[in-house]
Order: sequence, then structure tokens, then C-alpha cells
Amino acid sequence: MASSSMLNGAESLTLIRKIAPKGLGFTGSELSGRCFPKMTVVSYGKISKSRKTLGGVRCSSSSLSSSRPSSQPRFIQHKKEAFWFYRFLSIVYDHVINPGHWTEDMRDDALEPADLSDRNMIVVDVGGGTGFTTLGIVKHVDAKNVTILDQSPHQLAKAKEKEALKDCKIIEGDAEDLPFRTDYADRYVSAGSIEYWPDPQRGIKEAYRVLKLGGKACLIGPVYPTFWLSRFFADVWMLFPKEEEYIEWFTKAGFKNVQLKRIGPKWYRGVRRHGLIMGCSVTGVKPASGDSPLKLGPKEEDVEKPVNSFTFFLRFILGITAAAYYVLVPIYMWIKDLIFPKGMPI
Ligand SMILES: C[S@@+](CC[C@H](N)C(=O)[O-])C[C@H]1O[C@@H](n2cnc3c(N)ncnc32)[C@H](O)[C@@H]1O
Repeated sequence: MASSSMLNGAESLTLIRKIAPKGLGFTGSELSGRCFPKMTVVSYGKISKSRKTLGGVRCSSSSLSSSRPSSQPRFIQHKKEAFWFYRFLSIVYDHVINPGHWTEDMRDDALEPADLSDRNMIVVDVGGGTGFTTLGIVKHVDAKNVTILDQSPHQLAKAKEKEALKDCKIIEGDAEDLPFRTDYADRYVSAGSIEYWPDPQRGIKEAYRVLKLGGKACLIGPVYPTFWLSRFFADVWMLFPKEEEYIEWFTKAGFKNVQLKRIGPKWYRGVRRHGLIMGCSVTGVKPASGDSPLKLGPKEEDVEKPVNSFTFFLRFILGITAAAYYVLVPIYMWIKDLIFPKGMPI
């Protein structure tokens, strides 16, 4: 696909960038600049040790995601809010969200690094929702070997209606606390779900745990905007990680050969300044059996835990209002693509 490029992280973590970096303090959003930047190799492993913040997000030694700066409230990046968000969104999800942000072309492009090379592979699709990504997985793997897990029974109900998924196992569960044994799966796939996890590092650590030795995780997710208005709405709505955050989460969880591939709808012509809800596909290989070497404290949020109704309601309304902006962005980009002559920047 023309709009994708690959960032490679080898044993020692690397980001690949073709523009001259502003030292190592560049922000991932610069990587998501006006057009896909030209890449050159920047060693990243040495920086992360000395740096306490990553592009404005404060990092703790245990989890990058554990603190939420007040400038980035991310109202729907909470379990209860995500549950209710999908209670309603599930009704129109396949018809409204995917056509603008997550097309079949993008899905196949994003799954390519997952290396689904054997029909007998055991695959878990975490945050699998209505099964849109799973439909891409079952092209390569027998459906009976695939488990779709999601926190939303309403999203899963839509997956259950799909003929091609009728042999998949479909279960409710939490990405941060997976109901699979250690060393279970050959492939872990998660598309467009990390943005709702209150603690993404914990989810990626779980990905590591459930994979077999040599197994591969493929996590597809948003990228942070650089345009100020898009950044504002992104931060009010949910988590749009920076590219180096994904790589750092994977590396901290213990993955090797961490790679990041950029994806995007065709009509964006590579423009990433508004951020993309499906902006990259990150992969990593599990180098040793057993649990992740990363130690984390107890889980902070559970959908079962009672929350203050007023706080919940306020977060929910503000969050979905901000989300509406991201329904408009792809329409705007699509119209721009029609108006501006091909080959010119849009
Ligand atoms: C944008 S949808 C993506 C669905 C599907 N993967 C696809 O490609 O169309 C995000 C999904 O993540 C699920 N989700 C959010 N937080 C989750 C969590 N903590 N554990 C499991 N699923 C979660 C939501 O319920 C929703 O179905």
C-alpha cells in the first residue's frame, strides 16, 4: 500500500526516520507529520533510559501509561466509559466507523506483518469487537483456531452474526487481564482497541504472556495528531499514542524484533497531521517462554467496579462529543482528496 512504510526496531530498539531528528527529544507526532516523513535510523534504546518524559507523557519506571496528565484527560480511555461507548456504537460500528478509518485494504496491509503463515496457528484477537479484523485473520487461519475477545457483549453479538466467524470462539474479557494460559497462542492480534485501555503497558505485557515462545504480537492502533485542533479532540476523547510509545511498551514487555508499519486510508495521501485512529501496525516476537519480565502493580480499573455517576456522565458526554470530530475528519480528507489535484500536497 502506498501510504505505508516500515519502522524497524531490531534487538536494540531503533526508530527509522528519514528527516533529521531534533536530537532524541523528537516527539512521535513529528513522525506523524504533514506527509510521511523520509526515514533514517535513529538509535532509541539509549534515550529512553535517561528520559523521564516521552513527548509530554510522563513515564514511570513501571508503566508509561500509568499517569494521565491533566492536559490530556482522555475521557473514554476508561473501562466503564468504553463499555457504554460501545453499547451504543456497536449498533452502527460496521457501517459508520470502519468505512472512514479502517478499510479492508488497510486491514490486510496491517495484518501482513503478523505473518499469519499457517492455517493451524492459534490466534487471539483482543478487542475483536464486531469481528472486522477477525475476518482478515480467518483468510489465513482456520476459524476454529481463532478466539475473539472483547469487553463489549454488544460488539461481540455482531461478530456472532457473521457466517465466516461461526467457528471462532467468542468470549467476553479484558485486554489487561486475559483469560488465556501463559504460552498459549502463536499470534496475538489487537486492532483499534489499545486507545481505550487505561493501562496500555499492562495490555502489551499480557500479549507477551499469552504468546508461545517465538509467537508474534501484532497491535494496530492510532497515532497522535500534530495539528492543534485534532490534538485537542484526540486528547479529550481517548489515547492516541506516539509511535515511540508503542515501541517502548513492546520493548519493556520483553518483545524482540519490534517493528512499526504505518497504515492509513488511501484518501489521506499519507497525511498524518490529524492523527489516525488506525495509524500503525506494531509487531514483536516473544524470545523466551513464560511471563513478561516486566513487573507491574495491581490493575487500576475494572469495568465491574462502581464509579461516581456524575463523573462518569460528565466524562462520557465530553468524550463522545470529542469523538464526533473524528467522524468528520475522514470526510474532510476524502473531499480534499477529490478536490486537490493528485500529486499535490493536501
Ligand atoms: C474500534 S473497536 C475495534 C474492533 C475490531 N478490532 C475491529 O478491528 O473492528 C475497539 C474494540 O475494543 C474493545 N475494547 C475496549 N477496551 C477493551 C478492553 N479493556 N478489553 C477488551 N476489549 C476492549 C471495544 O469494546 C471495541 O469492541
